[in-house]
Amino acid sequence: MTDGFLGYRTSFMLDFVVVALILIVPILLYSLYAVKVQHKYALHRNLQLLLGIILLVAVGLFEVDLQLVQGGWAKVVAKRAIPLTTEQLNFVQTVLRIHLVFAISTPFLWATTIVLALCRMPSPPGPSSHSKLHKSLGWISTIDIVMTSVTGLIFYYFAFVAKS
Ligand code: HEM
Repeated sequence: MTDGFLGYRTSFMLDFVVVALILIVPILLYSLYAVKVQHKYALHRNLQLLLGIILLVAVGLFEVDLQLVQGGWAKVVAKRAIPLTTEQLNFVQTVLRIHLVFAISTPFLWATTIVLALCRMPSPPGPSSHSKLHKSLGWISTIDIVMTSVTGLIFYYFAFVAKS
């Protein structure tokens, strides 16, 4: 399959990551509801670990596909039936740079939040001396992944969906 499955001239893995980025948000919201409102700490831990694995697999496969198979994002954008103007390409590149700030920091923040929580939270998980730092890291990680998702979808829209 050379194009994506969402109906645009992208790649299978690009569309796969778009779906993953959309799915991550409701799962994350549910996980936060589980910990903050329901105090279901083990469920929160399991959902966060699941999200971490989804993120790792989706982003890893995506990077391999984009860089090694497709030859970079510009080559994928060039598959458009109606090419983007130089001005539009510059705009898309700026959106991509903003997206990359969030997309690159997210895996590091998530890895730190997860590893520290697994090492320092009691088992089964619950409030502890690590709670204060974990809450700060947790909220920053949450904002980072949501921004990764939002900016990624904006890039996808302007690069592949919007008419010239
Ligand atoms: C990147 C992964 C994670 C994120 C983004 C995250 C996010 C959060 C956030 C934002 C809160 C605070 C909710 C509030 O304001 O009350 C929280 C609480 C909590 N998280 Fe996580 N979490 C993650 C992974 C984990 C893991 C792996 C564990 C268990 C080993 C865990 C255990 C807890 C516990 C026990 C609390 C409650 C702390 C308390 O109320 O004292 N979290 N998490």
